[in-house]
Amino acid sequence: MAAIVGRSSRQALLRARSSISCQNAGFVTFKNQSTGRKIALAAAGIVTTGGIGLAVALNQSVLAGELELHPPKYPWNHSGYLDALDVTSVRRGYFVYKQVCAACHSMNYMYYRNLVDAFMTEDEAKAEAAEVQVVDGPDEEGKMFERPGKLADKFPNPYANPEAARAANNGALPPDLTFIVPARHGGEDYIFSLLTGYCDPPAGITVKEDVHYNPYFPGGTIGMAQALYNEIIEYDDGTPATQSQLAKDVSTFLRWTSEIEHDTRKKTAIKTLSILTLLMVITYYFKRHRWTVLKSRKLTSQK
Ligand code: HEC
Repeated sequence: MAAIVGRSSRQALLRARSSISCQNAGFVTFKNQSTGRKIALAAAGIVTTGGIGLAVALNQSVLAGELELHPPKYPWNHSGYLDALDVTSVRRGYFVYKQVCAACHSMNYMYYRNLVDAFMTEDEAKAEAAEVQVVDGPDEEGKMFERPGKLADKFPNPYANPEAARAANNGALPPDLTFIVPARHGGEDYIFSLLTGYCDPPAGITVKEDVHYNPYFPGGTIGMAQALYNEIIEYDDGTPATQSQLAKDVSTFLRWTSEIEHDTRKKTAIKTLSILTLLMVITYYFKRHRWTVLKSRKLTSQK
């Protein structure tokens, strides 16, 4: 009985093995192909890869055809890991914003109290706030009234609502500028290039009415007219107010508004990293000191 079982199972195993070898024989590999087919397959591969490469290259040249310029990298005072913002530039930039950009752009996330000790004394910031009229109320008779601004007030909004803003700007909505620097590819480099980049359109490009040619703006035409010109305002610290100086200062100011903790953040990073480095050295030494006994011991066994 056992012999029969043994024989039949051995036969089953033999059969199984032969069926596996049949399957193996069915595989097709590149090695087994004839030389002609190899050449044909390689050519098909090259043509496909070349086609994809051509499609990518054509796509890029189409983008270049739209004449959209990428802003160059400028050496900002605050670009480095350990560099603080140029506070005098931030202060000048505030006046550029207030006297030029604030006519159209809101800054809904900035309060006058943010200016205190950033680049103004408390009294100066109070005087700035008092220059604007803020709607407050209701009073005892249930009426809204206007009063001079206080440190706790926001920067004023030039328009009552987005529809009014569009209506005053030929349909284009001036964006809120508080966080515009991190909101745009290129950051302050882009803002600076945009403000100084207005020029005549190149031959062959017609610009519609009510828009302005600016190669740095995606699409090439922007609803905002050139805002900065030489000497358009006067600085109280005597800095010559050239167009590029105004643009640099307002870009630095816009970096500050998007990140009022900029300097504190870098200072904290320096402190934290130096303390952690010191702790790491101490921990490493202590670990070696403690483990040296365990690491250098020798275990022997005696019969
Ligand atoms: C006369 C009104 C007006 C003034 C003044 C003005 N802007 Fe604008 N700004 C606009 C409008 C309108 C748009 C929207 C343009 C569009 O979408 O085509 C705009 C858009 C922008 C944008 C966004 C561009 C983008 O990539 O979407 C920035 C940044 C900007 N302005 C910065 C400034 C700065 C800085 C100043 C002050 C130096 C300023 N603007 C002054 C009307 C103005």
